[in-house]
Amino acid sequence: MKKSETIFVCQSCGHQSGKWLGKCPECGEWNSLVEERARATKKGTGRNGFKLRDVTAVAYTEIESQDDARISSGVTEFDRVLGGGIVPGTLVLIGGDPGIGKSTLLLQVADRLSNTGTLVLYVSGEESERQIKLRGERLGVEAKNVYLLPETNLENIFHEIERLKPGAIIVDSIQTVFSSLMDSAPGSVSQVREVAHQFLLLAKNRTIPVFLIGHITKEGSIAGPKALEHIVDTVLYFEGERHHNHRIVRATKNRFGAANEVGVFEMTGAGLVPVSNPSQMFLQERPQNVAGSIVTACMEGTRPMLVEIQALVSGTKYGTGRRMTQGVDQNRVSLLIAMLEKRTGLQLIGDDVFVNIAGGLEVDEPAADLGVVAAIASSFKNTIVDPHTAVFGEVGLTGEVRGAMQPAVRAREAQALGFKKILMPASNAAGLERLLGVRVVGVRSVEEAMEELF
Ligand code: TYD
Ligand code: MG
Repeated sequence: MKKSETIFVCQSCGHQSGKWLGKCPECGEWNSLVEERARATKKGTGRNGFKLRDVTAVAYTEIESQDDARISSGVTEFDRVLGGGIVPGTLVLIGGDPGIGKSTLLLQVADRLSNTGTLVLYVSGEESERQIKLRGERLGVEAKNVYLLPETNLENIFHEIERLKPGAIIVDSIQTVFSSLMDSAPGSVSQVREVAHQFLLLAKNRTIPVFLIGHITKEGSIAGPKALEHIVDTVLYFEGERHHNHRIVRATKNRFGAANEVGVFEMTGAGLVPVSNPSQMFLQERPQNVAGSIVTACMEGTRPMLVEIQALVSGTKYGTGRRMTQGVDQNRVSLLIAMLEKRTGLQLIGDDVFVNIAGGLEVDEPAADLGVVAAIASSFKNTIVDPHTAVFGEVGLTGEVRGAMQPAVRAREAQALGFKKILMPASNAAGLERLLGVRVVGVRSVEEAMEELF
């Protein structure tokens, strides 16, 4: 008898090594290697003892186009983030902090899907049927065609899938499911990867969508992060904080649609409600006529979004001013402050500068630069920017204002929300005024922008 082999697997990236190492040579993580036993595969069979299929290559021209096969999940914002509906045969990973709303969203999707006649299997390794039913009652779902399976053993789950033949599967959560054919512990990277792989094969073979809910490790990544993200077709990620009502679901990877697409929801007493006009929601509580507040037009995936940038500049109690940010990159803001000092002569060295994106949003687009600069200058000068003015544009180190992508889309969103004047890079401004019928001011430099604003 062959003795079972021991291998060491990095729990972060899945790298395998014959001996234990303190540092993973693949991803550089310390103390991440864990002992696991290598799996022995029977001859002639694939993993899990399934018969291997006969394989033949297919001509490209004979493959049917799939895009018209998308089905609606019944939840508009969920469809949007997936790229326009669910593609049958995809494996989707949904990650996010505990309590952010993953189970809630997927139960709602299960309900809507089942109402259109799809049989949905909801596998839960975390909650009992009763608990899920309780949540369902709160959500007011009928879920006529939804079957619940509180089970964590992969083989048992597959057995039930074989019997029930569902049209869609939800697994809550992937970390709780384990294959008894493997020796490693549930939740370990080998198990998670194996389980994900089995569900991938299932999704492709049966051409049904499979949704895997995943937990987030302390470092903010999905457990066994790289390993999992490579396997699945689409990775959706819940952003936002529990202290705010809105939830943003972002596609960080999508084999069947635009990455970076976002869906916006509001958490209510009756579950997650899609927000069709996020700009309006984010600008709802904007203070009127105060210095240090400005609205910028960002792109989130293919959708424009107006957000309020707030800055507070105040004399420091220490020698040099602190720079603190929330929702924007601190380094970027430091850079912009240095540029402001040099180009416009604003003396900020003795001031603390705080920059915040209202509503707990995160903006990582360079096109938000001009908004950050304007908000800081407005607070420093204690001068109000006209509340009907929106800005966008990337700012370079020499104070030049660079063009942003999709200027017309941004400007149109601002116009739709009642903005009268839009300050943008000169290279973007050509012809837009005539097209949109709002005042469009193109600027080449930060100096020009300051002149226009103050
Ligand atoms: P849940 O979907 O269980 O989170 P996850 O699966 O991501 O861990 O959501 C739990 C939170 O959502 C909980 O704090 C209560 C809140 N919630 C509502 O505000 N309204 C609702 O209708 C439901 C079902 C939950
Ligand atoms: Mg949950």
